[in-house]
Amino acid sequence: MELLDGKKVAASVKETIKQEVDELVKNGKRAPHLAVILVGNNGASETYVASKQRSCAETGITSTLVKLEADVSEEALLNEIRQINDNPEIDGLLVQLPLPKHINEQQVIESIHPLKDVDGFHPVSAGNLMQGYPTFIPATPFGVVMMLQHYNITTAGKRAVVVGRSNIVGRPMSVLLSSNTDYGNATVTICHSRTKDLEKICAEADILVAALGKPGFVKAHMVKEGAVVIDVGITRVEDAGSKRGFRIKGDVDFAAVAPKTSYITPVPGGVGLMTIAGLLKNTLAAYKLNSG
Ligand code: GUN
Repeated sequence: MELLDGKKVAASVKETIKQEVDELVKNGKRAPHLAVILVGNNGASETYVASKQRSCAETGITSTLVKLEADVSEEALLNEIRQINDNPEIDGLLVQLPLPKHINEQQVIESIHPLKDVDGFHPVSAGNLMQGYPTFIPATPFGVVMMLQHYNITTAGKRAVVVGRSNIVGRPMSVLLSSNTDYGNATVTICHSRTKDLEKICAEADILVAALGKPGFVKAHMVKEGAVVIDVGITRVEDAGSKRGFRIKGDVDFAAVAPKTSYITPVPGGVGLMTIAGLLKNTLAAYKLNSG
């Protein structure tokens, strides 16, 4: 069993990005610029956004945070988005999800300019990915394929099972793994809450991606001997013994599953860090699209 080390791989992706940004700035160009809109004060969202901003700073990417109150109107939020869409000095824009209930999330996603859509959630980005000409790949599945490639894990001809069908992870993940690319050509099954024989299907996977947000869901009997297991779960669970009062748990029962695998991602230290690497890559790509 080998650990897929998100910290190490993300650091190497970030180093490559930093070199490219340094080179741009040395040549008198402005640095790429990411804008992040954060609505309300969801603790997990605040942590993710802080981490995104820190990673931008580490790689020389400029970032701007727009913080809005939880009771902001949808119209005011859409106005902020329009201003950023029209700002030629900003290359990428993401609105941290989830949004408060009174705001229509889909409406917000669709209002982001497709050429600045570094999250890859806009229907144009999703459509481009679906048709095999991706502009922006959602950061988490993008991070997963970068991780697989870094460890030379081949996917062609393999049986891949993705548990979870979200627009952010499961669905784009299944599209990437089945695409006609270096990181695709797998035979992909998506499992979800209505799947019959889910445990049996998981146990047939050469590559198993768990992205359902249920801590410890994947048990040892659901994993084939020698499988590659990718754990996308990052749920906060109460932990009185920890300083923060919680700890992060993945969707995989790591202790029981790890010994059966050929490769497995730890949580934390796995996919989470790769997600940010994916976002930074998308921001640099947006810069090139918008200033090229
Ligand atoms: N919430 C959970 N994951 C994500 C993400 O990748 N992007 C945004 N904008 N919000 C999220």
